[in-house]
Amino acid sequence: MTNENALINFQINPKRVDKIKADIIEIGFGNGEYTVYLSKKFKDKKILGIEISGESANKLSKKIKKENIKNVLYIKLPAIIAFELFLEDNSVEAIFINFPDPWPKKRHQERRITTAEHLFLFAKKLKKEGFIQLKTDHSDFLDFSIQEAEKLKCFEIFLIENPKESTQTKYEKKWLEQGKKIFTVRFIKKSEPNELTSTSIPKIKKVNYMPKLKINEFLDFSELEGKTFKIEPNLVAKFFRAFQRKNEEWLIETLLVEDNYTHYFFTYLKKLPNDSFVLSVSNFSEVIKTEGVVKFIKWLSNIKEKNKEENKNYL
Ligand SMILES: C[S@@+](CC[C@H](N)C(=O)[O-])C[C@H]1O[C@@H](n2cnc3c(N)ncnc32)[C@H](O)[C@@H]1O
Repeated sequence: MTNENALINFQINPKRVDKIKADIIEIGFGNGEYTVYLSKKFKDKKILGIEISGESANKLSKKIKKENIKNVLYIKLPAIIAFELFLEDNSVEAIFINFPDPWPKKRHQERRITTAEHLFLFAKKLKKEGFIQLKTDHSDFLDFSIQEAEKLKCFEIFLIENPKESTQTKYEKKWLEQGKKIFTVRFIKKSEPNELTSTSIPKIKKVNYMPKLKINEFLDFSELEGKTFKIEPNLVAKFFRAFQRKNEEWLIETLLVEDNYTHYFFTYLKKLPNDSFVLSVSNFSEVIKTEGVVKFIKWLSNIKEKNKEENKNYL
């Protein structure tokens, strides 16, 4: 699926890969029991789990190790970002989504994983005859998902009554114990999806290098702690703890909001033998290589000059 360097305990480091090849994807795998089930059912397929929760990622990692599973990798990113930036069009055979948050309040509907915009992105990545399988206990969410899928005019839609599966996820067990009915729906891709007139999916641009900039003066990270800067209208940096790692290496915890996506990483400063410094993103941060990260490092390399001139771009 990807080279060894890009992996830490089966987790793909987005900084070290440009594209991910996967036949079957599970979005929001929670405890990972369904991912393990998929790996056994489809032994010859490459399975990719996508999760935002670090705790879930650790649970899956332990299961993969314990059961010596060879065909599963996972990535810790919001599904939309992983699909948008790392998957090729027309490459995926199946996408499983089990019991996603139904976001029942009307004002939260655009957060649902099955908006037409999100389904459009998933449909683009599916091969023809590939499918999305969605399980939910929430009938409003099911109806919403079907209506959104119909807008794209590319799917054949099937409701599956009581699918026979030999595993149940944590949430499936929970809802069954409460006597709830479970709905399973399959959206099978028959053609390319209709283009949507507007989309709020972040337009993040990937680049294929990580910025490393030489600066001549020391940059005292401790002076940045707790500060927020608006670099551009859609690029905001916020700094947290700063510390010295070794004698001549410094780190600062950084949140960078690029469009709707939040990067979290350590910015790194190292003294060079010739008394200059190099500024970059720390090697052990799992950050996506994007235009925003490049702009951030360039901006930070100039911050002293900028502050001398303006001293007013604090938020
Ligand atoms: C209600 S739980 C269901 C977990 C599991 N599928 C199950 O059936 O037990 C929803 C899961 O989706 C994950 N999640 C939420 N938003 C996500 C996103 N944008 N991308 C990937 N995973 C997400 C959450 O961290 C959580 O583990």
